[in-house]
Amino acid sequence: MKAVILAAGQGTRLRPITLTMPKPLVPVANKWLIAYAIDMLKGAGLTDIGIVVHSLDSSICTVLGDGKALGVSISYIVQEEQLGLAHAINLCRSFVGEGAFCVFLGDNIFYDKMRDLLMNFPESEDDACIALGEIPDPSRFGVAIIEDGRIKGVVEKPKVPPSNLAIAGVYLFRNSIFDAIGKIKPSKRGELEITDAIQVMIDEDKRVTPHKLAGWWIDAGKPDPIITANQLVLEQLPYTPPITEKSGKLFGTCDVSHRVILGENTEVHDSVIRGPVIIGDNTVIRNSYIGPYTSIGNNVVVESSEIDASIVMNNCVIRNIPGRIDRSLLADNAQVVSTERLPSTYRFVLAENTYVEV
Ligand code: DAU
Repeated sequence: MKAVILAAGQGTRLRPITLTMPKPLVPVANKWLIAYAIDMLKGAGLTDIGIVVHSLDSSICTVLGDGKALGVSISYIVQEEQLGLAHAINLCRSFVGEGAFCVFLGDNIFYDKMRDLLMNFPESEDDACIALGEIPDPSRFGVAIIEDGRIKGVVEKPKVPPSNLAIAGVYLFRNSIFDAIGKIKPSKRGELEITDAIQVMIDEDKRVTPHKLAGWWIDAGKPDPIITANQLVLEQLPYTPPITEKSGKLFGTCDVSHRVILGENTEVHDSVIRGPVIIGDNTVIRNSYIGPYTSIGNNVVVESSEIDASIVMNNCVIRNIPGRIDRSLLADNAQVVSTERLPSTYRFVLAENTYVEV
């Protein structure tokens, strides 16, 4: 079975991070968001993957290439204008051919690897199967109603949700979805909604079934969910013993707990690190505290500062920050520093949609 990952969105809800980096390449536990989708598909034997991008110039194409390095084969499908999920899926028609296929939203991340579902769908009797996550208020998602083991209705972002079952970002379809897409019109937000095409299938008495997700699921479209996803993925890090001086990475007085991963040439000087924490290559931590659920990238310097539950991407500098940094997201090359010069002032150089809390 082939799979398509939809990754052509503009990531507007994740600005300013997405001004320079597409959302699928935002790191979660130092791994691109889209790499979790690819790993899941690969784990179920789906290695022929089409990725929908807004342009072949996208850095997604540059970093993933033909997919060989990740053990899959990747083709790219261009969607110049983001006219909706159904529009994006329709563009994949010749890529998927006649068989059943999986659609994966490139900004979703799951605890449930759905291996059996992905492997068994082609031989099943279902015309479509939709992953559903149970959440208290699903009003910002598509929402499904289930009856007798089948999905009896779906509605996109309802003000008053008819159930607590949100449509999560994995759909299994057959060719019949293309006929249904042909029958829908743009929604109020001007998009061709896949939810509307699924409703057409239901109205035509096609067999549309639910897959209720086990464990957590995150639509990582905004900073807070990305930070939460980072936390949830780090929570799953397997046990590793505390790092000692024998590693050659610790200098001075250090206390580095279990479940801490330190990359190549990374040094820790006179600091405390409490896992789960992942730190990339060529990074220096000095006189600092790195608390649980923190991911730090490559070539970063953290000096005389404290940080908890955050994502710090590559080439960042954090120096002399008096309070503890918490649940923060720093994109590549960001600097957060405090100087001892007088007058003691705040100084900001901020991109559009930047958020600062002091
Ligand atoms: O995350 C689950 C939700 O995803 C579902 O509950 C909703 O039913 C579904 O409509 C969708 O809603 P969102 O508003 O969250 O979708 P978003 O615009 O964020 O797009 C999801 C992914 O698809 C994202 O990686 C960008 C990509 N995309 C989106 C559009 C609109 C495309 O590739 N092309 C598009 O035209």
